[in-house]
Amino acid sequence: MALINIMSLLLVAVLFFFHLHPEKPFISDSNQDLINAYAAMVKDCVDLIVEHLKKFKNSKDYYYKVRGAKYKNSYQQAAQFIYLNQMSFNGIYRVNSMGEYNVPYGYREKYQFDYDNLKKVSQVLKNVAINSGDFQETMSNIKEGDLVFIDPPYTVTHNNNGFIEYNKKIFSLDDQRRLSDMIGQIKETNAFYIMTNANHESLKLIFGIHKDKTTIMERNSSIGGIGAERGKYSEIIMTNGV
Ligand SMILES: C[S@@+](CC[C@H](N)C(=O)[O-])C[C@H]1O[C@@H](n2cnc3c(N)ncnc32)[C@H](O)[C@@H]1O
Repeated sequence: MALINIMSLLLVAVLFFFHLHPEKPFISDSNQDLINAYAAMVKDCVDLIVEHLKKFKNSKDYYYKVRGAKYKNSYQQAAQFIYLNQMSFNGIYRVNSMGEYNVPYGYREKYQFDYDNLKKVSQVLKNVAINSGDFQETMSNIKEGDLVFIDPPYTVTHNNNGFIEYNKKIFSLDDQRRLSDMIGQIKETNAFYIMTNANHESLKLIFGIHKDKTTIMERNSSIGGIGAERGKYSEIIMTNGV
């Protein structure tokens, strides 16, 4: 069984892999900076990335210096991505219309990294096929019996919620409909999927056609522009597995 992980960020991918020990893991995301960071962690020695991260500092000026920097080396770019993700406001990843990362400084008290974990991640990623692109492109990699883990940005219709507002731009309801079509293709391939997504009427209409097992989960979320938007989130986990 191959594990196909589309739209995955570092931590979950590792937890999944550590937990499942899949034979032929494959991960994919449309965020080029993220995938470059993965690739650099595998290709270049992770020690170079760690060395670079150790040079970075936790101050407002330094943060904007790193945010504005145009690094040439992939390990410097990977260190920049990891640093910004850690030190930015609420760990949000956002780019402006020119594709430039524009999240403000997060005023974190501590600047600390779990370097051992980064080294563990780079070890795990060594056996992983890594792809950058739209989720639909990954369909050709899915074979009978595979397990596909799908974790899209949570977008719904109108929540007047800054975070949803931002997400809608990167992942629209039409993208959710495309994802639902892909789930149909995954099932026709006799493969399995697990999808996490927002628990919302508009998505129940889109994914309800599959009549698959759906579990509702509540969780706390610290991500979101304004304090009020953080708090309890209702999510669904949907699967055609048992
Ligand atoms: C909710 S995050 C995934 C979080 C991750 N699974 C985790 O738990 O750490 C959604 C991801 O979907 C990616 N994404 C957005 N639109 C996409 C698309 N059309 N195709 C592939 N990936 C996409 C984003 O770059 C982001 O990394």
